[in-house]
Amino acid sequence: MQPTDHPGVYKKNDRFFTINPENCKGIKVYNEQLITQDDTEYRSWNPYRSKLAAALLKGITFDVPSDAVILYLGAATGTTVSHLSDIITKGTLYAVESSPVAITSLLRVAEKRRNIIPILSDANHPERYQQMVPQVDLLYMDISQRNQADIFTRNIQRYLKQQGTGLIMVKARSIDVALKPKQAYEQVCSFLQKQKLRIHKTVELGPFEKDHAAIIVTR
Ligand SMILES: C[S@@+](CC[C@H](N)C(=O)[O-])C[C@H]1O[C@@H](n2cnc3c(N)ncnc32)[C@H](O)[C@@H]1O
Repeated sequence: MQPTDHPGVYKKNDRFFTINPENCKGIKVYNEQLITQDDTEYRSWNPYRSKLAAALLKGITFDVPSDAVILYLGAATGTTVSHLSDIITKGTLYAVESSPVAITSLLRVAEKRRNIIPILSDANHPERYQQMVPQVDLLYMDISQRNQADIFTRNIQRYLKQQGTGLIMVKARSIDVALKPKQAYEQVCSFLQKQKLRIHKTVELGPFEKDHAAIIVTR
């Protein structure tokens, strides 16, 4: 197992891994592979199941320190959330999810991983969770909705620290089925720039996620 340039992320045979916490040893979140080496248990990070793993393999830079505070919009059942939780051993991840069904599974993941705070809420209304969520270092969004760039921007304006990073996963077909994927990504970038956000990088996520891209921004 080799450390990578991304803190808390390891690599073996071209696959990424994160470290399973001591109190979660032997426990899988989504049937990922567990490998033990020198008394440490590593969880494989599947790029076909997690767009963040796909984005890392496609070359985004990912500098999330162990004490980072994260706001994650569209947490679903906790696949990607669980790997971020492994990475931010001294930080906190606020996980917003609007589906009561998905959040039931997320609650199970958060029972042992105490740095995850699940929030059943609609990211369209960032003011609804302002009592719980502080200013964050990373705002991550994976919600396939037509107005996802608008939701992302309004959450950034409310919650992202001035030096923080925003990462949005864009599904081209959710933006406009009539557009080619590249045009859809350009439309999102142009919207974000009009909201005074700086675009650092856009990477397409194929072959892991067809017609999806990850866009990194700062304020
Ligand atoms: C593509 S899935 C996320 C997968 C997850 N990010 C992962 O990698 O493990 C999108 C999730 O966003 C949720 N969602 C959709 N609209 C939402 C909204 N307005 N607010 C919060 N969650 C929303 C859906 O219920 C769904 O669970």
